[in-house]
Amino acid sequence: MNEIRIERSTALKQKPDPSTLEFGKVYTDHMFLLDYSSEQGWHDPRIVPYGPLTLDPAAMVFHYGQAVFEGLKAFRTKDNRILMFRPDKNAERLNVSNERLSIPQLDESAVIEYIKALVSVDRDWVPTLEGTSLYIRPFIFATEPCLGVRAAKQYVFAVIMSPVGAYYKEGIHPVKINVESQYVRAVRGGTGFAKTAGNYASGIKAQEEAKHDGYAQVLWLDGKEHKYIEEVGSMNIFFKIGGEIVTPALNGSILAGVTRNSVIRLLNDWGLPVTEKTISIEEIHQASAEGKLEEAFGTGTAAVISPVGQLHWQEHTMTINGGETGEIARKLYETITGIQNGTLPDSYGWNVVVAE
Ligand code: COI
Repeated sequence: MNEIRIERSTALKQKPDPSTLEFGKVYTDHMFLLDYSSEQGWHDPRIVPYGPLTLDPAAMVFHYGQAVFEGLKAFRTKDNRILMFRPDKNAERLNVSNERLSIPQLDESAVIEYIKALVSVDRDWVPTLEGTSLYIRPFIFATEPCLGVRAAKQYVFAVIMSPVGAYYKEGIHPVKINVESQYVRAVRGGTGFAKTAGNYASGIKAQEEAKHDGYAQVLWLDGKEHKYIEEVGSMNIFFKIGGEIVTPALNGSILAGVTRNSVIRLLNDWGLPVTEKTISIEEIHQASAEGKLEEAFGTGTAAVISPVGQLHWQEHTMTINGGETGEIARKLYETITGIQNGTLPDSYGWNVVVAE
């Protein structure tokens, strides 16, 4: 790993009142940058004052969308340590996305070190208030000016950070979700498993329509038959049906969520094994009609655990657990946030200490 050059900001910003934090509205004092060229490989790691980037209008990311990103969080413990949650999983997935988008691989341990260094420089930005954290957004985009369609020969890997509160205005309160029947997010062989900007761009229209109708998000069905459940706009999804916990299997068009993976591990260890399988929306509707749909919740880095109180599919409205937060969702939320902020023991070794 090349040494990181650090240029400190001389105009530090005023930090926001933590009780007013939303998701992704304010940014810290510094950002991390790393360049790639086909001649030099990844080079020149640096931490610089947060600010605008200058790009050639022909930069390939603007035209052909070669862009991938990640999302992870850092937390401040009561004894003032700074912890990051499972950054190794994000570094690993970043390379999975890179591979799919023909972006050059990064050294995963160097990625973790770069992020640790940035969090360390801006450590005063990690909020303390319960329910808040420092959201870290690593991303890579093609910078080579070229209008020919091919893999770019120049990229930038950047990391920015934002102190955040809850992703949904509902917080841990249940959200209403629309099951999308017209548009699709991904197909097998496409980019559904990669965390690439284009997946989100193509989902925005459905999300805007759902928002207009009073829903927090959309639940995507498979791209071929429009029958099988995939994931929600910004989270993976779990259901408890007649005592069994199920979640869609990773079939190539679903994102392999870090929180999804953590939830499966926790539930298995609590004696509540999760079945990863193909789940049809018809099955969910049937379970709801028979009074067997006991809980539904989404999982994601930004969303943490988000209970689903209502699902709307075509002309059907399914209310889940009387629209209240379920027992499992609550316990998972408390356990995951407890491990993340150091109030519960980290028996899985998921936390990485940034600063003591
Ligand atoms: C995350 O949970 O970190 C995400 O990337 C989801 C999102 C805010 C797009």
